[in-house]
Amino acid sequence: MAVCPACGKELPGEFPFCPFCAAPLAEAAPPPALEERKVVSVLFCDLVGFTAASEAADPEDVRARIRPYHARLRSEIERYGGTVEKFVGDAVMAVFGAPVAHEDDAERAVRAGLRILEAIEELNEADPGLELQVRVGINTGEAVVALGAKPEQGEGIVTGDVVNTASRLQSAAPVGGIAVGAATYGATKDVFDYERLEPVQVKGKADPVAIWRATAARARFGTDLTRTHAALLVGRELELTLLRGSYERAVRDSSVQLVTVVGEPGVGKSRLVAEVFVHIDSLPYLVRWRQGRCLPYGEGVSFWALGEIVKAEAGILESDSAETAAAKLDAAVPADEADREWLKARLGPLVGVDSGPAAGHEEAFAAWRRFLEVLAASRPTVLVFEDLHWADDAMLAFLEHLIEWSEGVPLLLLCTARPELYERQAGWAGGKRNAATVNLAPLSDEETARLISALLERAVVPAELRALILERAGGNPLYAEEFVRMLKDRDLLVRSGGTLRLKEGTQIDLPDSVQALIAARLDTLSHERKALLQDAAVLGRVFWAGAAAAMGGLGERTVRESLHELSRKELVRPARVSSIAGEGEYAFWHVLVRDVVYSQIPRAARARKHRAAAEWIERQAPERVEDLADVLAYHYLQALELARAAGQSAEAAEFEAPALRFLLLAGDRALGLD
Ligand SMILES: Nc1ncnc2c1ncn2[C@@H]1O[C@H](COP(=O)(O)OP(=O)(O)O)[C@@H](O)[C@H]1O
Ligand SMILES: [Mg+2]
Repeated sequence: MAVCPACGKELPGEFPFCPFCAAPLAEAAPPPALEERKVVSVLFCDLVGFTAASEAADPEDVRARIRPYHARLRSEIERYGGTVEKFVGDAVMAVFGAPVAHEDDAERAVRAGLRILEAIEELNEADPGLELQVRVGINTGEAVVALGAKPEQGEGIVTGDVVNTASRLQSAAPVGGIAVGAATYGATKDVFDYERLEPVQVKGKADPVAIWRATAARARFGTDLTRTHAALLVGRELELTLLRGSYERAVRDSSVQLVTVVGEPGVGKSRLVAEVFVHIDSLPYLVRWRQGRCLPYGEGVSFWALGEIVKAEAGILESDSAETAAAKLDAAVPADEADREWLKARLGPLVGVDSGPAAGHEEAFAAWRRFLEVLAASRPTVLVFEDLHWADDAMLAFLEHLIEWSEGVPLLLLCTARPELYERQAGWAGGKRNAATVNLAPLSDEETARLISALLERAVVPAELRALILERAGGNPLYAEEFVRMLKDRDLLVRSGGTLRLKEGTQIDLPDSVQALIAARLDTLSHERKALLQDAAVLGRVFWAGAAAAMGGLGERTVRESLHELSRKELVRPARVSSIAGEGEYAFWHVLVRDVVYSQIPRAARARKHRAAAEWIERQAPERVEDLADVLAYHYLQALELARAAGQSAEAAEFEAPALRFLLLAGDRALGLD
């Protein structure tokens, strides 16, 4: 709830004046951020030669022929979570990552591109006279995103150099091909096959830019299991013991056990599961291990994860024809099973085999459970369901059905999920017998340090370099890996003897993958929560609830509730003791989260927020401003520089006097301390 900035009372609604003290409120709440800076992937697709071919034709005929093409393009783009920004004649421009970012926007854009090429072929087959041909260009980079834009009314969502370059790549693409720029290539080179193309000249860029042609998607099966691990496992002894224990209980009691491993992205959930696999694989008897993943966007199949498991069990490949798949499914259902036909009919939809009219959930669940029980009865079985936070409600309902009803067979259900699973299903697996949850906390500093040494091939890592990565990783092994990889890829490390050093004057950026991951998590937040985080990010890694409340014109209760939710999402955490008496102190979970939030605020808004932060700090300790002079000087200087950079000279002039005053104070204080 909003509060009056003059009297501090909570406002029971929206008013131009405070109903308690009559202070004007129009200026109280700053306008919500209408723009954000974001990393997006832009896709251009243009028809080749169609404009020329249509010159002679009647415009109505042209429109009639082009319409199905536009509709098809839109649906392929939207299927992967992209937004069509505009159609210009025969060309379409689409954006992935705005208004809402996903951690894999570059991948989605390329998948959409490949789908578009397939769709064009289908359209040509359906209408032989059509002979459509396209070129696709995709580029990834930072852009300014207009949050409230309505593309259906012709309003642009993104602006920036990334758009022009994408358009240029499109015209450089081979006919019937997709050309991508370096950032898109870097983010997706493990997912697609690429060919290098001749570099192209782009307006406004001195050097030709490197481009690649995406040719095909690599299979996504088994990626998690077969992935090579960069370093030996560090820590996690207790968690591994617990998971092994759950497996042993399933075997000893012939019972179903469910374990959900929960933690933020990159903390090591999949790795922990892989380590359980290593252990189980080393046992002297055979265990059935099957793995399925929930996907963040629909391939039109719900129960995808379960489908993967059944496909793997039956040996069905994505490339199999429907008949082959049906034959393999037939072979996978035991011959002595009484209800063979019934089972096969219910399993069919999971593996893309058409098997007559669909059954209700209840019946399908019963059949699937029966199939899994049959498997587990023949030998101990572990079923892994990865990334359960993306599962749809029906998938979750099936797992609960399984744990509730299965009996008498050794079956371990091993699930991984991010904390947001609990937002959708607060009581996930709660109150179920044989269900456990393992919360994966960040690695300790000592463990992270060991991981960093291992990632740097056990070179002697000077304390300074280690501290630098340690701080950025914040106990997240994925972040540590990505930083080390970036330092290596960009050749920023020099080795002299056995010792590694950072090159002189190196500025360390955020790796693209980490930025994308964090930006996607931030976009799961409501606008209000995000605005709160933006205010907090201006205050720094550590901030106070009261400051965030004052900067956003919010009530204390609202802020407390928001911060509670943000802590549950592992974006911030409360400090046990506060450095300001009576003020709840919080810190960003990772300094990187703070950096990404901060980088998304447009410069002019950033300047305003720095001023608001300074004013709050001044109010806390008016008699002690000397002590805080350097913090205050920092905020006013930031405000000054940002306002200048945003071309707001009037605002900038306002910040000069306080910036100077606190700089001098800070200087005096430094001298006094000597
Ligand atoms: N305890 C650990 N020791 C060493 N490396 C780890 C550890 N935990 C995770 N990693 C590595 O960090 C990366 C991210 O881990 P992952 O299991 O994929 O995270 P999550 O599934 O939670 O998103 C992987 O490359 C993994 O091998
Ligand atoms: Mg994972």
